[in-house]
Amino acid sequence: MKIICSENYVELSQFASDEIVSAIIENPSLILCMASGHTPVLTCELLVKKLRERNVDYSSVYFLGLDEWVGLPPANEGSCHYFFRTKLFEPLQWNPSQYFLFDAMADDLQNECKKMDDLIAVKGGIDLMLVGIGINGHIGFNEPGTSFNSLSHVAILDSTTTSVGKKYFDDGRVPDKGISIGLGHLLNAKRVLLMANAEKKAGVIKKTVEGEMKESFPASIMQMHKNGFILIDKEAASLLNKTY
Ligand code: GLP
Repeated sequence: MKIICSENYVELSQFASDEIVSAIIENPSLILCMASGHTPVLTCELLVKKLRERNVDYSSVYFLGLDEWVGLPPANEGSCHYFFRTKLFEPLQWNPSQYFLFDAMADDLQNECKKMDDLIAVKGGIDLMLVGIGINGHIGFNEPGTSFNSLSHVAILDSTTTSVGKKYFDDGRVPDKGISIGLGHLLNAKRVLLMANAEKKAGVIKKTVEGEMKESFPASIMQMHKNGFILIDKEAASLLNKTY
């Protein structure tokens, strides 16, 4: 696990988007998996801008959505689906053959998990993952206590997740379940970037980097990843023992 500390959110987002652009240039058939949320907003905007400006051929990239709130239609502005459609798929003119997102409205959610797991296997694994971190240490909807070997699954959301999650929904109504790619897939991904900014993430970043590696704190799995990077800004790094 390597720590890369940027001066601020803009620099952090520049770095993350550059990493993705370089990965696509190096491997035009990149299997890219990303989280939505507030953290990667600017990364997505910069990614679209840089791919266009640098004339990168991204037509063979395949995209996987990390997670989704169960029961939300894709048109709901708080959904991960809406985030990726408006921030990436429409600006990049990707068609559905280039991505797979969980259908959180499906009657058979186990089948959605199977579809994702099968797809990851068929594609030969995830090349690059860009994930965020929740205030309880979750990655995607891998809530505290999730096995480090887990595949795609449906999770009952932790009270911290539903409480913090209100920020995504105008009416403050937060689903009580999520569907997510599992931590086993993260461990097998060729490269993982965990991104966090601002003072509110300083405590969880300290636990991720310096705390005990344990399933009750999912992000600590990053310590185990042979090609894992923690991308943070100065504020998120403020509680770390070492200066980066
Ligand atoms: C959410 C999502 C995660 C996201 C995390 C952090 O609940 N399930 O995929 O990475 O929490 O979100 P944010 O970037 O808004 O802080």
